Amino acid sequence: MNDRELMEAAFAARKNAYAPYSHFQVGAALLAEDGTVYTGCNIENSSYGATLCAERAAFAQAVGQGARRFRALAVAGGPEGGATVETPPCGICRQVIAEFCGPDFPVLLAASPERISRYTLGQLLPEAFTQASMDPGKAFP
Ligand code: THU
Repeated sequence: MNDRELMEAAFAARKNAYAPYSHFQVGAALLAEDGTVYTGCNIENSSYGATLCAERAAFAQAVGQGARRFRALAVAGGPEGGATVETPPCGICRQVIAEFCGPDFPVLLAASPERISRYTLGQLLPEAFTQASMDPGKAFP
């Protein structure tokens, strides 16, 4: 599974987006260490705060099926019926990614599967609060 194939899986997952309020459709594809790809889409709710982002939906699929170690995440988003745009994960999703992935974890963004921008989680969420942050012996930074 290369970056482009993972991104194509994110674009495919985007087709299932349920976004009747924002009309902004997002898909995510999460590559697990064993090569399995878990996908998710955004699932909105009339109570807007109950909305689930595509990235967290993908993590829920993966962790719910026993996966805990991951190689990369691809995200594809854009307005319904319009061109896709590079869609960076929201803050809550960055925090969820940081629960399972370290600062070198690749996060792939793209407006089309042919042109992928590669970020690391450390770039998107520097100095993350993690389980280790709760260790009283660990100094910050
Ligand atoms: N959205 C995601 O699915 N992932 C993100 O990281 C950014 C935002 C969704 C949530 C909502 O359904 C829509 O995009 C507009 O915010």
